[in-house]
Amino acid sequence: MYKPKKIILTAGPSISGLEVRYVTDAVKNGWNFHFRDYIERLENAFARYIGVKYALTLSSGTAALHMSMLGLGIGRGDEVIVPETTFVASANVVRYVGAKPVFVDVERDSWCIDPKKIEKLITKHTKAIMPVHIYGNVSDMNPIQKIAKKHKLFLVEDACPSLGATYNGKKTGNLSDVAAFSFQGAKIAVAGEGGMLVTNNEEIYKLAKYYSNDAKDPNRIFWHTDIGYMNRMSNTQAALGLAQLERNDEFVEKKRKIFNWYNKRLGDIDGISLNTERKGTKNIYWMSSIVLNKNFGKTRDQIRDELKKRLIDTRPFFYPVSMFPMYEEQKTPVAHYIGLNGINLPSGVNLKEEVVDYIAGEVKQTLSAA
Ligand SMILES: Cc1ncc(COP(=O)(O)O)c(C=O)c1O
Repeated sequence: MYKPKKIILTAGPSISGLEVRYVTDAVKNGWNFHFRDYIERLENAFARYIGVKYALTLSSGTAALHMSMLGLGIGRGDEVIVPETTFVASANVVRYVGAKPVFVDVERDSWCIDPKKIEKLITKHTKAIMPVHIYGNVSDMNPIQKIAKKHKLFLVEDACPSLGATYNGKKTGNLSDVAAFSFQGAKIAVAGEGGMLVTNNEEIYKLAKYYSNDAKDPNRIFWHTDIGYMNRMSNTQAALGLAQLERNDEFVEKKRKIFNWYNKRLGDIDGISLNTERKGTKNIYWMSSIVLNKNFGKTRDQIRDELKKRLIDTRPFFYPVSMFPMYEEQKTPVAHYIGLNGINLPSGVNLKEEVVDYIAGEVKQTLSAA
């Protein structure tokens, strides 16, 4: 019987000889004439992996979302429809450019944006819809694409947690006008910090590149033609990101295995639900998660505290973004419910089945002792 000696974390990367080789090479040789070698390799490989024309390395997923807004020309007076259940950055980037995030509720089973609730939020100021593939679950893109087309709106995928997921055979990030991915340390593929913007639209790509690189005039050195940002990724981070991207399919299969181990042990428990996989999609289960559907006699956070005492770290689901003081709270009952009743379980790619067995056993005990 497995017993942990130290806390089991919710995430953590797999670092092999390949990562060490690329990073060592970048540290030793990635300077002067070679300062962009790994950046270019990563951008080319990433564009091929997603199936898009352009990929732009950036300093974070947040920066990739921010540059998406600028690439689309979204600004003051505009509105962008954003799901409530997401990391705060999805909404903040809309504010960065002076526009307003309009919050929409999410689906009860996928935890992604609810397409049925989008249309009534569209006004003459709406410029874009931003589906978020939360925890690696895939948003229902077909109806969202139809709404965007009908109302002439841009689509921006927040694909930060979904590298490798697919919808009807197409990778997330290739289902919209522009999309953002994250290489932050808890993600499926890591670069320490880092992000990637992808698009098939040359205009969006060029604008995003320009604004993320201090709005430099390409034809006149040290001449700047607007207020830009310094959002570049370093060559050294790109070396790590490239090695991780080359192994991403391996990570996806491992994440799916981890979810199946949990599902086998927790799937039948009355009163909880786990991630779902929409028909026609491939979920990467970035975070295997549970939602408490009935009153177990303890709050979600008491359950998390008890699991921590058993050396199991967990994360609460994202709170609905409109609950935060810089936004105005909206009536989004599903996001409010799952935000207070959802738990992300340990899901790092290094997890072994015996550890998942231990975690699932402790989750069951904690719930039944409630
Ligand atoms: C849904 C979502 N959007 C955006 C981000 C932001 O990515 P980053 O931390 O790289 O800025 C994250 C990462 O946590 C995320 O999960």
